[in-house]
Amino acid sequence: MSKKPVLVAGGGGFIGGHLVARLLKDGHQVRSVDIKPMEEWYQVSDEAENVVADLKGSDNCHAACKDVGDIYNLAADMGGMGFIENNKALCMLSVLINTHLLQAAKEAKAERYFYASSACVYNADKQKSEDVVPLKEEDAYPAMPEDGYGWEKLFSERMCRHFREDYGLYTRVARFHNVYGPFGTWEGGREKAPAATCRKIIHAKETGATEVEIWGDGKQTRSFMYIDDCVKGILAITDSNILEPINLGSDELTTIEGLYDMVEEIAGVKVKHTHNLTAPKGVNGRNSDNTKIQEYLGWAPGIRLRDGMKKTYDWIYGEYQEKYAGQPA
Ligand code: NAD
Ligand code: GDD
Repeated sequence: MSKKPVLVAGGGGFIGGHLVARLLKDGHQVRSVDIKPMEEWYQVSDEAENVVADLKGSDNCHAACKDVGDIYNLAADMGGMGFIENNKALCMLSVLINTHLLQAAKEAKAERYFYASSACVYNADKQKSEDVVPLKEEDAYPAMPEDGYGWEKLFSERMCRHFREDYGLYTRVARFHNVYGPFGTWEGGREKAPAATCRKIIHAKETGATEVEIWGDGKQTRSFMYIDDCVKGILAITDSNILEPINLGSDELTTIEGLYDMVEEIAGVKVKHTHNLTAPKGVNGRNSDNTKIQEYLGWAPGIRLRDGMKKTYDWIYGEYQEKYAGQPA
């Protein structure tokens, strides 16, 4: 284990916060950097060196990378479909974070660099049907990714590859498929379907509302990865000899309607579903083909959706109570 501090870029966010906690538990020194004011970080680990800085700037990236060993880049301006469909330029500006961090990593002679890519890099033509064929790594090309956010991810993946090939920087890249769990965004517009579903059902349960609105017709399909699998996968992929971007996602497929049904069952309520057909919907179907990760690691994310959603629901229920208990509906 390297004695040098580990940098987690985006440590105030959902996945970054969990990764920081895990690295500290494993005995690492951690520098956690995020643009958000500290009171907005989802988790703050006091044992880490916590820094508020904008990593779009080159100087801040050089300061963040000073004397570090490993770098995990989880910083991005992103969210669920409600955010990425309406903020394409902002999403693309995250290219500055990865660009400056790679340059700073190279100059600081960092030992290893991990980049968080996304299933949004995959060609849209392969995701037209709900009855989806799981996405293999080669399905990213020829390129037709999600507009804005997906193009930025694909470009940044590629830059990691060229820094490895041209400069010998040790880079590893995982394509996350929709990640959920406690200490994530659950309201405000950046939340993804699992957290949004919990919030909507909790709201119905607490206020006695008899309907919830689902974005889209509910027939669209996705797989969702629990945060513990994500953190385990990040560390394993960073330690591995997997040079090309690889899927890190669950292959347990559900319809979105099925996700709402599951959360209602967890909550012990039954409500009517209405469908908003003009809301941001994204692709019709998406699943992760885990052949490659199984081959390389003998492991793939396997936490069952029902188990992860129960933990997520319980956490969001607590947050909801803390924020809204006693307020009029
Ligand atoms: P998040 O929004 O909770 O965390 C990202 C963090 O980056 C935020 O705290 C944000 O403040 C920070 N950040 C944004 N711009 C910054 C800047 N200029 N300088 C410093 N910090 C900045 O999101 P997350 O779910 O934790 O995602 C982490 C990474 O994983 C991102 O790169 C994201 O694109 C990728 N990813 C996530 C998912 C998912 O389902 N959560 C899926 C695919 C890929
Ligand atoms: N966000 C959200 N909120 N989505 C909803 C809701 C709701 O209240 N109700 C239904 N949905 C539907 C969306 O319309 C979409 O079809 C599906 O649930 C999943 O939406 P998201 O969870 O927002 O995003 P995604 O799976 O399309 O894409 C996400 O995953 C990628 C990785 O797989 C995004 O978070 C990307 O940023 C991420 O890279």
